[in-house]
Parts: sequence; structure tokens; C-alpha cells
Amino acid sequence: MKIKMKPLEYNYGDFEPYISAKTMSEHYEGLYRDYVVKLNQVINSIDYSVSVDQLLMSIQDYPIKRNDIIRYAGGVSNHELFFDSLTRKRTKPNKNLSEAIVKSFGSYDQMIENITTVSESLFGSGYVFLVIEDDDLAIIKTVNQNSPLIYNFYPLIAIDLWEHSYFLDYLSKRNQYIESIMKLLNWDNANDLYAKYTRNIRNGIYSL
Ligand SMILES: [Fe+2]
Repeated sequence: MKIKMKPLEYNYGDFEPYISAKTMSEHYEGLYRDYVVKLNQVINSIDYSVSVDQLLMSIQDYPIKRNDIIRYAGGVSNHELFFDSLTRKRTKPNKNLSEAIVKSFGSYDQMIENITTVSESLFGSGYVFLVIEDDDLAIIKTVNQNSPLIYNFYPLIAIDLWEHSYFLDYLSKRNQYIESIMKLLNWDNANDLYAKYTRNIRNGIYSL
């Protein structure tokens, strides 16, 4: 099975002036495409019949290619969630997700503050994720292309904090990029993922 690029739900220029069309097109056409190509090269050599996310969740089954899968399947999965985590529509957490946010963080504003703080504290290249961790939500950061799925966390939102995400638009002012991302978060997508994951977890299905 060949992994294909997941189409974007928007145009490259939709996030101007927060993220330039040039940054979005390079990110999608250049960097994300490269991860898809490299992942296809890796999975050509293994017995593989599951989705990219399932591959990451069952990483212990692939000891020989483990590092390559973490790097390239992570690069594909993380980028796809990052692209899906952005929207210009006004979205907000629905009732179920709002209740989980209040239970875990106290309030929506507090969660945004925590995401911002954790994002600002990331050293080097990596991501910050809002994830489901057991019965709660949590904010985690991972380095390189490590996916939350390899730790059995279910991600709802991804923020790409590699330099290629912001340097063209913000130079070294990463905090300004983080501030902009907070205005673009796609809660419709997070609501859908939260419903899907909690339903699966309830039914004892630990796959995606
Ligand atoms: Fe990226």
C-alpha cells in the first residue's frame, strides 16, 4: 500500500498575514511531501498493512526499522494533524470537549495559556500537542518527529515548532508565531477527533 499525501482543506494563502502562502506551500509541497516519499521507501521493506497512525501505535512490532518509522511516519502523521489543526473559521470546543477542558485545565483560557507556555519552553525542533491521556487532557511536547501515538497518547491538536514553520515570516520571534497559531486553532477537527477517540477507548479499541 502506497501512502498518499493528504489534501489540504484550504489554500496556502488563507492564513495571511499570520502565516504566509510561501511558508504554507513550502511546508506542504516541500517538507511534508518529502516525509511521505521517505516513508514510502521505508515501508517498501517491511510487511505492512496498517495506517500510518496504527504503524506508530504498534511501533514495538517493528524493531529493525523503528527509528526510520518514528522519523518518517511521525513526520507524516504530525504534519497532517498540524495542517488539520489550522482554520480561518471561527471554531470552538463543543460541549463534550469543553467539559474535558474544564476538568483538566480549569478553563479554556487557562488551557490556551498552558499551550502557549509549553510551546515557548520547547528547546530545538519539535511539536506541542493537546492529547487525551487516560481520562484527562494534557499538553505535551515532543522533539524531532516523535508522535504522541508512540507513547499511547491520542493527539487532538498539533503545533509545529520547527523553524521552517515560522522563520520566513517571524525570523527568530517564535513567540509571535505561537501567539498567531492560537488564533487559528481548528476546534471542529479537535471535536471530531475527541469524539472518535473517546468512543474507541470506551469500546476497548486502542487503534485509530
Ligand atoms: Fe513541519
